[in-house]
Amino acid sequence: MAIITVEHLQKRFNLEAGFFARFGRFVYAVNDISFHIGENETYGLVGESGCGKTTTARLLVRMYESDGGRIIYRDNTEVGSLGRRELKQYREKVKYVFQDPARSLNPRMSIYEVLVSGCRGSSRWPRGSGREKQLREAAAAILEEVGLGKEDLERRPSEFSGGQRQRISIARGLLMQPDLLICDEVVSALDVSIQGQILNLLLDLRNKRDLSFLFITHDLKVACYFCDRIGVMYRGELMEEAPAAELYKRGLHPYTKLLFSLENAPVKNSKLLITAAGCPFAERCPIAEERCFREHPDLLDAGTGHKVRCHNSLA
Ligand SMILES: Nc1ncnc2c1ncn2[C@@H]1O[C@H](COP(=O)(O)OP(=O)(O)OP(=O)(O)O)[C@@H](O)[C@H]1O
Ligand code: SF4
Ligand SMILES: [Mg+2]
Repeated sequence: MAIITVEHLQKRFNLEAGFFARFGRFVYAVNDISFHIGENETYGLVGESGCGKTTTARLLVRMYESDGGRIIYRDNTEVGSLGRRELKQYREKVKYVFQDPARSLNPRMSIYEVLVSGCRGSSRWPRGSGREKQLREAAAAILEEVGLGKEDLERRPSEFSGGQRQRISIARGLLMQPDLLICDEVVSALDVSIQGQILNLLLDLRNKRDLSFLFITHDLKVACYFCDRIGVMYRGELMEEAPAAELYKRGLHPYTKLLFSLENAPVKNSKLLITAAGCPFAERCPIAEERCFREHPDLLDAGTGHKVRCHNSLA
């Protein structure tokens, strides 16, 4: 069963300032994407900076409202039509671990407050005399699970290294026992050796818990190592989707091949998508043909759960 199903999701931002303002033009940050994440599945969303990964994540937890499409939680809960109270419950089940741990942890709070501040309104910990004790026990247990100790509860975020802060962010995400943890570039700001430690922690959590992941990264190799299935995103669109092992062996899309060939995956900014004619990748594609600049390719089935959006990759 799918935990999350995304259908034709769209989000555009108005370019209020600058040259384009007078044309009333938009950035199509997320442009008609569809995918699902199964129970206990790790789905990777991969692409260069600016392709729409974070916007997708924010749409999933309704930090942004979408301009089109829908998001279904489990069988039939339409996320876009949840009322305030239901949305709060949904956000306990679908947790977003932010891209930047340095900014997402309030420096004035103790780690205990960082971890539990979102829990006090939850029905999991009802108001009453035993609540703080229960919260403290739960916070200590989760800190130990992510490799820190209960003595760390009284410390401040600034006393921890980048890797440790990322562990704290993950712990905060896990405290509500979510069904889906959205990890947005959780390793990209860290040194390579620390990245490995955090990935191992996530692998450990994956094995121990009933938990699905949306794993967002610009690094396709890291995604292939960590994920079950991967969607490759470019300028707001999914260009290819496949099981990770299949993508690694037989990446079909020219953009996927480019991402694999980049040493250490340097992050480049995709230009903004202003109009939707032709293939979004045409300007950079080594095998682009005249048709590619005119006709927008569909995402087509390439067999064994593999889909690709390219006029020339299925021939
Ligand atoms: N709040 C916003 N207002 C206007 N434009 C935005 C906003 N958020 C994102 N965008 C634009 O939407 C596009 C997608 O941005 P997004 O942050 O989703 O990309 P990303 O894939 O997460 O990139 P990164 O790897 O750098 O985090 C970019 O062109 C970005 O400039
Ligand atoms: S459709 Fe054309 S431009 Fe786009 S990726 Fe395929 S070959 Fe390249
Ligand atoms: Mg981002």
